[in-house]
Amino acid sequence: MKINKLKSLIAGTALAAGVGFSATAQSSLAHTGDWKSYSKDATIEAKVDSLLALMTLEEKIGQMTQFPGKTAVTGPAIQDDYKEYMEKGLVGSMFNVFGAKGLRQLQQYAVENSRLNIPVLFAADIIHGYKTTFPIPLAESCSWDLELMERSARIAAEEGTAAGISWTFAPMIDTSRDPRWGRVMEGAGEDVYLGKKVAEARVKGFQGIESWEDFGKPNTMLATAKHFVAYGAAEAGRDYNTTDMSDRTLRETYFPPFEAAIDAGVATFMTSFNEIGGVPCTGSKYLYSDVLRGEWDFRGTVVTDYTAINEMVDHGFAEDLKEAAQKSLDAGIDMDMNGAAFIKHVGALIEEGKITEDHVNQAAARILELKFILGLFEDPYRYMDEEREAATIEKAEYFEEARRNAQRSIVLLKNENNTLPLAKKEKKKVALIGPFVKERMSLNGDWAIKGDRKKSVTLEEGLMAAYKKSKVDFLYAQGATLPRKIEAENAKTAEEIQSKVEEALAVAQDADEIIVAAGEFWKWTGEAASRTDITLPKSQKALLRALKELNKPITLVLMGGRPLDLSWEEENMDAILETWYLGTQAGHAIADVISGDYNPSGKITLTFPRNVGQIPIYYNHKNTGRPEDPAKWADYKSTYLDVPNTPLYPFGFGLSYASFEYKNLNLSSDEFSKGGNITASIEVTNTSKVDGEEIVQLYIRDIAGSVTRPVKELKGFEKVMIKAGETKTIEFSIDESTIEFLTFNNVVAPEAGKFNLWIGTNSADISNAASFRYVENANN
Ligand code: BGC
Repeated sequence: MKINKLKSLIAGTALAAGVGFSATAQSSLAHTGDWKSYSKDATIEAKVDSLLALMTLEEKIGQMTQFPGKTAVTGPAIQDDYKEYMEKGLVGSMFNVFGAKGLRQLQQYAVENSRLNIPVLFAADIIHGYKTTFPIPLAESCSWDLELMERSARIAAEEGTAAGISWTFAPMIDTSRDPRWGRVMEGAGEDVYLGKKVAEARVKGFQGIESWEDFGKPNTMLATAKHFVAYGAAEAGRDYNTTDMSDRTLRETYFPPFEAAIDAGVATFMTSFNEIGGVPCTGSKYLYSDVLRGEWDFRGTVVTDYTAINEMVDHGFAEDLKEAAQKSLDAGIDMDMNGAAFIKHVGALIEEGKITEDHVNQAAARILELKFILGLFEDPYRYMDEEREAATIEKAEYFEEARRNAQRSIVLLKNENNTLPLAKKEKKKVALIGPFVKERMSLNGDWAIKGDRKKSVTLEEGLMAAYKKSKVDFLYAQGATLPRKIEAENAKTAEEIQSKVEEALAVAQDADEIIVAAGEFWKWTGEAASRTDITLPKSQKALLRALKELNKPITLVLMGGRPLDLSWEEENMDAILETWYLGTQAGHAIADVISGDYNPSGKITLTFPRNVGQIPIYYNHKNTGRPEDPAKWADYKSTYLDVPNTPLYPFGFGLSYASFEYKNLNLSSDEFSKGGNITASIEVTNTSKVDGEEIVQLYIRDIAGSVTRPVKELKGFEKVMIKAGETKTIEFSIDESTIEFLTFNNVVAPEAGKFNLWIGTNSADISNAASFRYVENANN
């Protein structure tokens, strides 16, 4: 995906510029032992040690170097410049090269032509599918279905490992609360509790292991917790921008998904591009040595983000690349992605006594350990089996799962007068309008690594298949074009826009109702795709306004990678379906929801603001000393003059074709003490005539603490299928783990006092509330 950029980098400043080793560093290549002769039963540590003892300094630094791939559609070709490095044993890892055949060739060259025959570790950004493309991660998180997320990561790993990859740069687990930031599409939204669960599910899915020994199986892969840390808090939502926050906020909001990933056994971490408190993360001793390896005892490998060491010079944290290399090694970084900082400068840094060889030994050992764990020394080609690749990629069952997943990622935001579903048996003319009706290229979204964009099912194709035998007639007009670049959209003249609108009006006036498919071209969200204006593109907005004048029911089907400002749409559209980018099976899944073959169940995991000025806006904010409480403050309160404090759609919000009633909230007791617990239960009735799934959410508020607590915190959820007319009782257990937090004394502990509790259908639902107390025991 970023191949051109990669090519220019390698050809220019970075790896191709040469390897800066001194004579002493290039010690004799002769060796006396052979790692292959060591017993297979020796511990991995012993194997690593014995191999390290045979390696020159240069070879060890080579292990710490990750090369970018020069990939072709059919697989990578061995390039002359790789050959030279491979022959010297300097290519520890390569990324974004694919395909069993090509990678086998590369591996063979590396293994057969280097002195110690050490295999290369192949990595890639397998984020939401490899070939079979699943919904973008933000969309998938709206399913709140952890098993579903684990399964899609597993399928991505099955396909990716069959294509030669044994390390993915995923999951991205950055908490993010700013829809201006294009990379919100890649994570699980704003919430810490949900973020931890999703991190865990995705790590488990990608790695596919019960214990470390399982990495020996050829369908398992190393996962990466990225980007450590607080990358999602970029000031003003501008990608790569500075972040700054208290250590408390880091620990409460940004660290937890990373700790959860470690608990789930994640093998590697990636640094982030941003600085925090004046220190670029890639050079932060605090983050990598003190917290990650010290406090959390993480034993795995840390790779930089793409040229992140080099960027420390631009940050103003190092005068040159050499100093940057030193600072990142000091911080505890093991592998340099694409930057050539280690390969060029570590030899000299050791000679000058600025770092020790121990640094290098430790980092190289961690990387070799991964290769031993994956069994690459026993069989360097274990991931490169063309037959397995052919049998695994794009299996029919993966496509079925992608469709199921996409159905569950859709969120119904509005449905006035039961505009949806669109019955198949009613005789109707429906105008399909908008640039996304036939749009195919956007459907996979950003980070769809090898998913064939030309194969993804469009909305039109999905609807045609679903309504083939129906009485519904579809008409079509594009109504607005979809430029790839925002500049081109902005440059459209009023006449150009109007002439496309006229086409649409001519078609739509013959229809009984209208479905408009609108949104952002896929390049408008993702990396380096921040926006300050998060409304629909102006020509699409003009189209909607004109269609509104026809006074017919309008369903807006949205595609995009971020919450948009939909204030006008909420007021003027009859139904709104947020479909994000749903991947390979997008059109089918949307048609399933439009037709009611699948009853939508998704709920948003990132707040939709009323306008861009409210950002950052998230449900678990603090109360302030002057909250919006009419009983207390008529004026001089923490509000805006022009919009309410509330969002357009709150976290956890999403509708169904069914309707659910919550009642009889009950607490087993109104207090508990150390070691104890209480049960909160509620009855949820499906009061409609259709079966539906509901995501029942538990929130609490700690009324007073040694530090202030948010107005609400998600502490549990359950996704349940409730049949028409059925009532289910949902229970949550509340104990110390529910109420503990990082106290003023910097320990995670519960504090005695009063708590409010709500169980409801979204974070703003306060209709079922109760309170309880946590009391200290006499011996506390
Ligand atoms: C991104 C990472 C990604 C890497 C390799 C970087 O620009 O920030 O998330 O893994 O590129 O493609």
